Amino acid sequence: MLLTSAQVSMFASSGVVFIFTLALFFSGYVIQQRTVSSIQEAIKPRTPAPPPSSSPQEVLIEPLQPSRAFGSALGSAGQRALKLYKSGSPEAKPIDWKKLAHVQLVKDHDEVCSAIMLFAELHAQKSPATKVLMFPKSWAVDGRGEILDPYLMSSKRLMRAAARRYQVVLRPMVTFVDGADDSSRESYSLASLFSLTEYERIMYLEPPGHIFDATVMASVLAFSPQAPLMSLQSRDSPNNRSSEMLLVTPSASQYRQLSKRNAKHPETDIDLLQNSFPYAQDSHILAQADSLPHTSDLRAASEEFNATEFLDGTAYIRVVDSELAGPQYDVPYPERVAARPRVADAEAIWSRVYDGFRLGRMSICGLDLEPLRKD
Ligand SMILES: *[C@@H]1O[C@H](CO)[C@@H](O)[C@H](O)[C@H]1NC(C)=O
Ligand SMILES: *[C@@H]1O[C@H](CO)[C@@H](O)[C@H](O)[C@H]1NC(C)=O
Repeated sequence: MLLTSAQVSMFASSGVVFIFTLALFFSGYVIQQRTVSSIQEAIKPRTPAPPPSSSPQEVLIEPLQPSRAFGSALGSAGQRALKLYKSGSPEAKPIDWKKLAHVQLVKDHDEVCSAIMLFAELHAQKSPATKVLMFPKSWAVDGRGEILDPYLMSSKRLMRAAARRYQVVLRPMVTFVDGADDSSRESYSLASLFSLTEYERIMYLEPPGHIFDATVMASVLAFSPQAPLMSLQSRDSPNNRSSEMLLVTPSASQYRQLSKRNAKHPETDIDLLQNSFPYAQDSHILAQADSLPHTSDLRAASEEFNATEFLDGTAYIRVVDSELAGPQYDVPYPERVAARPRVADAEAIWSRVYDGFRLGRMSICGLDLEPLRKD
């Protein structure tokens, strides 16, 4: 098509007008976005300080060798459970998955998304067990003052979506201590897991984490030996329990006892569990501490690290690197680079977990990463 010079100049001038309009639009847009992000910044909760560095211990991390599938899908307990699961329950009675539940317990709004992301992974991997989310009852109660809490509204939106999309059962929870401030996270306890007496056994996984193999998790839930509380060994002290993974047999009387004990002498969640079910008195440690890897362990990978073996041996990985505030924060790129593993295959897994977390936050919760706020 041939254009006359008049047509060309007309196109050119309309192009100029268009570009100016576009520029004007974008400058307005940029100002608006800045305002929005400064408002978001202003209403943001403080970034928690990264956990105290455990560098003296990190030196002691055994290098991840190719000969050893780190984690081995939750150790021998996990292997045994998986075998029973795959052989189709030789223990006579069929499994009633309605009585077995994966439970998350959130005390605060900023914990909701990571909990729901775990449910999304269980759902995507077709976990047969029930999924239960325990949350402060006060969130479900209406007409509490005039203040419109944007975090409460966001949590309600997420929890409704989780119930609809992943069939999560929503369970309001009362404060652990009668009459405690129901808006404070300190008023809730993991001990409330014992109150879910309509389930025979429940599994709690501490977020943030990524489930590689929901089948191992379901097997452990269904086929571990019966005990009031099973857990992993603590990483810091082999005679203590860790709260990273708990298997609980709910019981009204256990719950009452824990509550009574706590009323007399308040303790942190893990101290309360540890002192009520001391490791020394039972063999109910599910597996050794290293059965559940942390992303930070990938830094110990040697050049012979075998990614296939690592992934085959890992059912659940916790996203924990002591230098980084958490996967939900938008960490400056140089800090991220400094924290990631040096060995390429280990780095690939590490980055996949972190990037997957970021994508999940966006697609599952509709949330961007939280800006890091240093005070
Ligand atoms: C082990 O647990 C006990 C009881 O809760 C606690 O006093 C002690 O500090 C713990 N040890 C470590 C190393 O965490
Ligand atoms: C990694 O481990 C898998 C399974 O054990 C094995 O088949 C594979 O050959 C190993 N790869 C390398 C590069 O050693």
